[in-house]
Amino acid sequence: MKQIISVDINTRKVDPAQCRTDLLVLGYFADAKGLDRAGKALDDKLGGAIRRLIKLGDFKGAAKTQALLYSEGKIAPARVMLIGLGERKKVTLDTIRKAAARATNKAVALKAKSVALALHLAVGDQQDPGAMGRALAEGAYFGSYRYDEFVTASENGRLGALKVEIVDADARQVKALERGVCHGAVIGRAQSYARTIANRPANVINPPTLAKEARVMARDLKGLSCTVFDEKQLKAQKMGGILAVGAGSGSTPRLIILKYTPPKPPARKLPKVALVGKAVTFDSGGISIKPSANMDQMKFDKSGGIAVLATMRAVAQLKLPISVWGLIPSAENLPSASSYRPGDIVTTYSGKTVEVLNTDAEGRMILSDALAYAVKQKRDTVIDVATLTGACMVALGNYNAGLMGNDDALIEQIQEAAETSGEAVWHLPSGDEYADEMRSKIADLKNIGSRWGGACTAAAFLRQFVGEATWAHLDIAGMDNLQKETEYAASGSTGFGVRLLTTYLMNLTGV
Ligand code: BES
Ligand code: ZN
Ligand code: ZN
Repeated sequence: MKQIISVDINTRKVDPAQCRTDLLVLGYFADAKGLDRAGKALDDKLGGAIRRLIKLGDFKGAAKTQALLYSEGKIAPARVMLIGLGERKKVTLDTIRKAAARATNKAVALKAKSVALALHLAVGDQQDPGAMGRALAEGAYFGSYRYDEFVTASENGRLGALKVEIVDADARQVKALERGVCHGAVIGRAQSYARTIANRPANVINPPTLAKEARVMARDLKGLSCTVFDEKQLKAQKMGGILAVGAGSGSTPRLIILKYTPPKPPARKLPKVALVGKAVTFDSGGISIKPSANMDQMKFDKSGGIAVLATMRAVAQLKLPISVWGLIPSAENLPSASSYRPGDIVTTYSGKTVEVLNTDAEGRMILSDALAYAVKQKRDTVIDVATLTGACMVALGNYNAGLMGNDDALIEQIQEAAETSGEAVWHLPSGDEYADEMRSKIADLKNIGSRWGGACTAAAFLRQFVGEATWAHLDIAGMDNLQKETEYAASGSTGFGVRLLTTYLMNLTGV
């Protein structure tokens, strides 16, 4: 798919002062004792403009602040932006990623055609240069992203392309950054792709068109195959959960199956992984209909599935040496004469029966079939991603995804991936107490629990379908989209999960 703003990213050995660019970006710590050597040399050429700015107190290097200077022909860059990095001891890869995102976000606002990032210079050897290169590239994509494909070109008021360079005068340092920048560009592009598909409204993306998109994506990528179960095949397979949720919509449900086979057989110790993502292309609640306020936001209820789709794209482009499947159950949850109803008892693919007490608890219905399918197909490690519960948002706000699972080692691996990727998770319980709430008197399970601990009971429900597999569940409700833009991100889809899942797989394979 064409990028909305086409971002081209490279590393270049060049003295920042001599770099022809619309915007040179430097980092500055709140507790820095003045400029470092490179900064001083640059500032000398600027006639001390940066030092004046700092001395006047107009810029202190605090997190979330920045200052813009015009170089007036004294150095090659047209503008210099200083980005506040906060306290040095608190710096993480995410500080660098967000700083890069803030810089490119501003670059797009300024209609700059090119931006040179030298943010890593301030950080020095406190962070691994490869990891910094990756964070810079991911951030550059994240911040420059816009969603305006339905705004006619004459109205969108922005440039179509942004050239990003990670610059450094030291050739060795450039080399060290390079590999990370390459990986970060793949991940960043995958995340932008996820954001675009997720931002598309439900009259554009429905289960059949999502399946078509997956097919087109797989066709262009080596090692990736795509099979789609349509309604007829879902019936033949007895995938009662997906069929029930999709029954109310004229856009019939699908199960999208992406299989990635690495170029060389993977190391024997590596698990066969399945990523499972909820793709409800619109969640009205069904017969248990939601209130109308903000219902438009429920176009984002496909975000888990799209995170899986885009992760598969990154995995194939990175040629990771591991077997990964992406399973994306997709349905549109609408009320109609053919909808599933409260009280219905549904037989799922696993054979387990579910009493439907609320048609708005539809995510777990479609996931139950896809999880059971993954297990039946002998995937060793199964990770699902879903905008599953409002309760998770109540518990964690917009700052952490809920993480549940049945294996401590897997939980730790995901927590570690969260650290490096900057996509934060918080471990929550989903054990027997919660599972007990999901027992039905007239079927094996019911699809809602009590008023309390809704994120945990939802996870406990999913747990019933994973058998002996090593399993983790990410509840990304609250993380999948931003209602309001921030200083480093446009509003709308965040593409949450792409960096986290890709990082988890990269860590497994040692890439
Ligand atoms: N898609 C929603 C969860 C959701 C809510 C995501 C708000 C993002 C923002 C899910 O299908 C749902 O409606 N869950 C219900 C479950 C309840 C009926 C047990 C919920 O959270 O209210
Ligand atoms: Zn729902
Ligand atoms: Zn939903």
